[in-house]
Amino acid sequence: MTKNSRKVSTRGRTPDWLLFFGKFLRHGVAISSFVPSSTFVARAVVRNIDWNNCRCVVELGAGTGPITEVILKLAPPTCKVVILERDPDFCDRLRERFPGADIVQADAVEIERVLDERGIDKVDHFICGLPLPSFPRKPAHKILDVVFRRMTETGTFRQLTHMPYVYYGMYRRYFDKVRFSFVLRNFPPAGFYTCQVPRHGSLNLS
Ligand SMILES: C[S@@+](CC[C@H](N)C(=O)[O-])C[C@H]1O[C@@H](n2cnc3c(N)ncnc32)[C@H](O)[C@@H]1O
Repeated sequence: MTKNSRKVSTRGRTPDWLLFFGKFLRHGVAISSFVPSSTFVARAVVRNIDWNNCRCVVELGAGTGPITEVILKLAPPTCKVVILERDPDFCDRLRERFPGADIVQADAVEIERVLDERGIDKVDHFICGLPLPSFPRKPAHKILDVVFRRMTETGTFRQLTHMPYVYYGMYRRYFDKVRFSFVLRNFPPAGFYTCQVPRHGSLNLS
């Protein structure tokens, strides 16, 4: 249990994996995975964040919250944490598990408004669980445009994937520095891209 989570009775409640699987069956690529990330992925994706100097972290597409849990555990009180998820059932679950956390039910294309409403100018790390490669170009570029403009100079955009390495080229088109990390201890094997230094000319916003 994290400092921001609470022990809730799970009796009679659909387990996270089953809620997730049901959503996957109904919404397919919009959910993109049939199981939530393992704690190994969750720990790996935030590893090496310098929490002492971190003022803001934004999680996009939190699902049932395996990564949220780790972020909330590690983030100091001085770090703003914004958790965004579009699905209302996932948001209910997140609010139940993390009652004090800033859980926003919204589409990720609205991320700029969400940041403005909170007076957040810069974000140190975006942790992205969105199935970005399957988004149409326009919303994908709209989200990345906000990431580009709002990310701190030393910030990162960390993108989860269940297709290890396949989208390396795609992220290299958007960022000068891209590193892929493979996480074997997940079912199915997963990984994430750590992206830095946006290529501002790479987006087509028209
Ligand atoms: C692959 S799941 C990742 C969930 C979680 N981060 C994890 O690692 O288990 C993708 C999540 O992104 C959410 N999502 C998809 N499109 C979205 C959008 N346009 N705006 C906000 N959330 C979205 C889905 O509802 C789903 O919870």
